[in-house]
Amino acid sequence: MEKRTDSPYPKVDRPILAVVGVLLVISCALFVWSDRKHDWRYYQATFRAQVAEKLGAEKAKLLRPGLQQVWVADLKRADRCMTCHQAALWKGFETAEEPLRTHPAGPLRNHPVEKYGCTSCHGGQGYAVDATEAHGPVEHWEEPLLGKTLGEAYGLVDDKNAAMQMNCNVCHRYDRETKGAEAINLAKKLVTERGCRACHVVNGRGGSIGPDLTNVGEKAAEQYEYGRLSGQKTSFAWHVAHFKDPRALVPETVMPNFHFTTKEAQALSMLVLSWRRAPVPADYRPGTPRTDPQTAAEVETELKMKTGPGAWFVKTGCFVCHSIQALGVKSPAQIGPDLSTAVEDVQSRFGRTLDDFLREPTGTMSVVLSRQIILTPEEKAVAVGKLREAFAEYQKQKAEDAKGKKPAASIGAH
Ligand code: HEC
Ligand code: HEC
Ligand code: HEC
Ligand code: HEC
Ligand code: HEC
Repeated sequence: MEKRTDSPYPKVDRPILAVVGVLLVISCALFVWSDRKHDWRYYQATFRAQVAEKLGAEKAKLLRPGLQQVWVADLKRADRCMTCHQAALWKGFETAEEPLRTHPAGPLRNHPVEKYGCTSCHGGQGYAVDATEAHGPVEHWEEPLLGKTLGEAYGLVDDKNAAMQMNCNVCHRYDRETKGAEAINLAKKLVTERGCRACHVVNGRGGSIGPDLTNVGEKAAEQYEYGRLSGQKTSFAWHVAHFKDPRALVPETVMPNFHFTTKEAQALSMLVLSWRRAPVPADYRPGTPRTDPQTAAEVETELKMKTGPGAWFVKTGCFVCHSIQALGVKSPAQIGPDLSTAVEDVQSRFGRTLDDFLREPTGTMSVVLSRQIILTPEEKAVAVGKLREAFAEYQKQKAEDAKGKKPAASIGAH
């Protein structure tokens, strides 16, 4: 009778199978090992070898091994980024791979590392010496590195590196323009041109219809109402959506839809998020005076209009949002309609008389007249009188224009 075994395989195969199994485990482990992020010792050893090769062994000896830290007492920052980014201040490694590349010279010329560290511009966790932690891909916007990865997560349409400019502007908020912070510059221009200050205080100047924005960047991410926001629930995403269509997020708001492009809405969001009480001493904030005064030109046009026939509208503050062309009043922001024809327009738009509308205003004007410009009944009567004068002036000018145009019209008829 033949001898039987329990296994269908010959005995010799079993050790082979075992060996194959062990090899598989080992190769998996090796794969994981080689794919892990290197630690700082690896980068320091690599850099030492590169310096020795490029600049000689003597130079390589100058490299201090171990943790590197820049302590900036004024900014309360202890940045260890250079533990890995050792080449930052060395010349000759401009084309090397990160983290061993020479830092672009421009930004450090005005901001030496011993006075600014790294995280005052880049964000990230300064104390960490592990790349994942240092670059900090964590939820809140202040903590992660304000680099390309975050820019991509935010879906920045223009410059993927622009998120860092939020930090530039924590210090540079009083500059009209900051070289190297182009998104912020665009946003500052929009704030002036679109007249956000008609409704918002920024740096101590502006209206009270919307909230004071001076430190709006400090509002915690949890304080936003995300109910109507689709997609990412971050303060950045909230602001972008709000700038694109305020009523989509806050249905009862009187903030107008300015029809901003995505690029503009993103730039404005970065700007408002940079508006924080600075954790930096005054000498780290360039720009004097440290307020945001009107320009000389703005002051002059305002003064001129104050002595003209539309003086009442300038003095009262209506001109912040309304032009009254017939009286030579030009609003810088033009948030509301021209009031030259209000007498007629209110009647046709709302089916009410002007007196009635000003007594019980609706929409934006109900907020304006209850929060920003409080008028007594007598003053409202004055307003109606002034608006009638404006309308009379408008009709007079229209009649004159028509007379002036007649010859041109008859020429055209031939
Ligand atoms: C453990 C080593 C290590 C530490 C510590 C470290 N980094 Fe890096 N850094 C890297 C490596 C590796 C890369 C390149 C690969 C990558 O992008 O992750 C890099 C890339 C970068 C980049 C370019 C990538 C981007 O998204 O824009 C920036 C900027 C940067 N680091 C800044 C910092 C700052 C600021 C700190 C300190 C808070 C820091 N790093 C700390 C290893 C490190
Ligand atoms: C004054 C602000 C400022 C400071 C301080 C600063 N950087 Fe930078 N850093 C910049 C700017 C601006 C760039 C260029 C980004 C670009 O190309 O758009 C840059 C580029 C880099 C890059 C290359 C990133 C890339 O996208 O190519 C790394 C890495 C980096 N910095 C690390 C550091 C480290 C480490 C420190 C501290 C030793 C530091 N930086 C200090 C402003 C600063
Ligand atoms: C912690 C505060 C701080 C941060 C962050 C900061 N700066 Fe500055 N920056 C200053 C101060 C202060 C000066 C003036 C330096 C001087 O005159 O000695 C300055 C000077 C400059 C200048 C030269 C201005 C001139 O008129 O010559 C430029 C350009 C500039 N910064 C751009 C930037 C950019 C871009 C960033 C972000 C990548 C940035 N700064 C981040 C504080 C800061
Ligand atoms: C007609 C008045 C008006 C104008 C003009 C206006 N806003 Fe607003 N804004 C408001 C009101 C009211 C709110 C509060 C309700 C809301 O969130 O929409 C608000 C809210 C905001 C918020 C959110 C504040 C917070 O605490 O959540 C920001 C940011 C903002 N406005 C920025 C701007 C900017 C930038 C401009 C100019 C481009 C502007 N606003 C123009 C009335 C206005
Ligand atoms: C903060 C901006 C703001 C200020 C300041 C302001 N208005 Fe208005 N006003 C508006 C807006 C916006 C409208 C358009 C209606 C709406 O959106 O509800 C409007 C509408 C009106 C209308 C109706 C006009 C029409 O054609 O429908 C009158 C009348 C009016 N405002 C008068 C005034 C007077 C008078 C003052 C000064 C006492 C004043 N407004 C100040 C924003 C403002």
